Amino acid sequence: MNVVILAAGIGRRMKSHFPKVLHQICGKPMICYVLDAIQCFEDSRIIVVVPPNSSEIKNTIIQSNNQKRKPKFVVQRRALGTGDAIKSALPVIKDSAPTLILFGDVPLLTKKSLTNFINRFKTGEAISILTTKLKNPKGYGRVIRGEKKEILAIREETDASVKEKRIMEIYAGPMIIRTKFLKHTISEIQQDNQQSEFYLTDLVEKAAEKKLNLNSYELKDADEILGVNTTKQKLEAERILIKKKILLCLNKGLQIKNPDNFTLRGDIKFKTNVTVDAGCIFEGEINLGKNVKIGAYSILRNVVIGDNVCIEPYSYIEESHIKKNSIVGPFARLRNGVLVGEQCRIGNFVEIKNSTIKTGTKASHLSYIGDAEIGKNVNIGAGAITCNYDGQKKHKTKIEDDVFVGSNTSLVAPIKIKKGATIGAGSCITIDAPAKSLNVGRAKQTTIKNWKKN
Ligand code: UD1
Ligand code: CA
Repeated sequence: MNVVILAAGIGRRMKSHFPKVLHQICGKPMICYVLDAIQCFEDSRIIVVVPPNSSEIKNTIIQSNNQKRKPKFVVQRRALGTGDAIKSALPVIKDSAPTLILFGDVPLLTKKSLTNFINRFKTGEAISILTTKLKNPKGYGRVIRGEKKEILAIREETDASVKEKRIMEIYAGPMIIRTKFLKHTISEIQQDNQQSEFYLTDLVEKAAEKKLNLNSYELKDADEILGVNTTKQKLEAERILIKKKILLCLNKGLQIKNPDNFTLRGDIKFKTNVTVDAGCIFEGEINLGKNVKIGAYSILRNVVIGDNVCIEPYSYIEESHIKKNSIVGPFARLRNGVLVGEQCRIGNFVEIKNSTIKTGTKASHLSYIGDAEIGKNVNIGAGAITCNYDGQKKHKTKIEDDVFVGSNTSLVAPIKIKKGATIGAGSCITIDAPAKSLNVGRAKQTTIKNWKKN
C-alpha cells in the first residue's frame, strides 16, 4: 500500500505561526500520532506531503524515535487544497498498490480502526471513505447519498446547502483509492467552490459519475475522527485522549482519587495498589512500583518510582529515579537526573538536581543539593546547601557515608566530605573534611554580658 499523509496546509484557523501538524496533544506532535498508527502497516511506502521550507516538520518526524521506517517527504509548493496536495505525491506512489490518504490533523484515529477500514477495501472498488455520524457535524464534509444510500459526493461545509448541512454523516479524512484511478482523475478536479481550492473529496463525485464502485466504513467512536483545525479542537483532542488513558488505568486497577482532576499526558506503567491523589499531572514515561502513593497536586515527568514510595503532596519530580521505601515531599523538587536510594527521606522545600543519594540518607527540610554524590545514612540538616556554581562552571560535591551536615551549612564545591565527618551548623566549608573529623567553619560567637541597648 502507498500511504500518503497530507501535512502541507497553512492551518490558518489555528491562528499560530507554528505548523499545525506540529501542535502537540499530550506532549506529542499531532503528525506523530498519525505516523504511529500506521507503523504496523508493513510493506507500505509512507509519504508525507509538507510545505516548502518545512525542516521543522521533517526534523520532528525523523527524530521521533517510534519511526521504524523513515517516510519519504514531498513538497506541495502552494497550499491550494487537499486535492492539490495529493498531486505532489503522485510521482512517488506505485500504481500497482492502492493508496491510503490520511490527514496530519486527525490524530486520534487508532491502529485498530484504520486496520479495520483497510481490510474492508476490496480490489474492485475505486474509493472507500471512512465516515462517522456526528450530532454536530459543523465544519466537516458531509456524505451525500442517493435514494439507495449509494454515495454520490462529499460536500464541504462552505459549499453545502441548508438541507445538506443537516446531514450528520461526515467524511472523517481517511480515504483508500485505487492508485490508477487517482492518477487519471485528479486532473479533472477544479477549484470551482467557495474556497477556490482543489478538493480531494471531489474525487468521490467523479467516481460516482463514472459509476465506479464506492464504499464507506462507518466508525462508531466519533471521538477518534476529531479533526484539529482550531485551538479549541486541540484542547478537545487532548481531553479525549486523557480520558481514554485514565479509563485504561482505572480498568487496570490504578486508584485515581479524582479522575476528573488528573492530567495524564504521558504513558504510565504501574504495579498493584498504586494511588494517585487529585490534581496530579503526569508527563512522559512514568513507572510506578507497588504500593506507591502520589500525593495531591504533584507533577511527575519521566520518572521511575520504586515499591512503597510515598510522594507527598505538591512535589515536582522530573527525570528522576526514586528507589523503594523512600519518602519524598511535600513540596520537593527533583530534576535533571536524580537517583534517590532506598529508605531515603527528602522533605519539604528540598531541591535536588543531577545528584545521587544512597540508602537511608535524609534531607528533611529546606536544602539545595546540586551536582552531588551523597553516600549512605547521611544527614543533611535544614537549610544546608551545595554551592555548586562559581559563576562560570558547575562543581561537584562528594559526601561519603555516615556524614552529618549541620543546619544552614554552605558546602563550597568542588569539595569532599569524607566518611563519618561532622560539619557544625552554620559552617561555610571550603576545605575537604577528613574522615571522622569535626569541622566548624563559622565566626566565633561574641557574648557581651549585661549589655544595655541605650
Ligand atoms: C477536510 C476535508 C473534509 C473532512 C475533514 C476531516 C477536504 C476538501 N475536506 O477538511 O471533507 O470532513 O478534512 O477532518 O479535503 N493540506 C495540505 N495542503 C493543502 C491543504 C491541506 O497538505 O493545500 C493538509 C492539511 O495540512 C491537513 C489536511 O490536509 O492536515 C486537511 O486539510 P484541512 O484544511 O484541515 O481540511 P478540512 O477543512 O479540515
Ligand atoms: Ca482539518
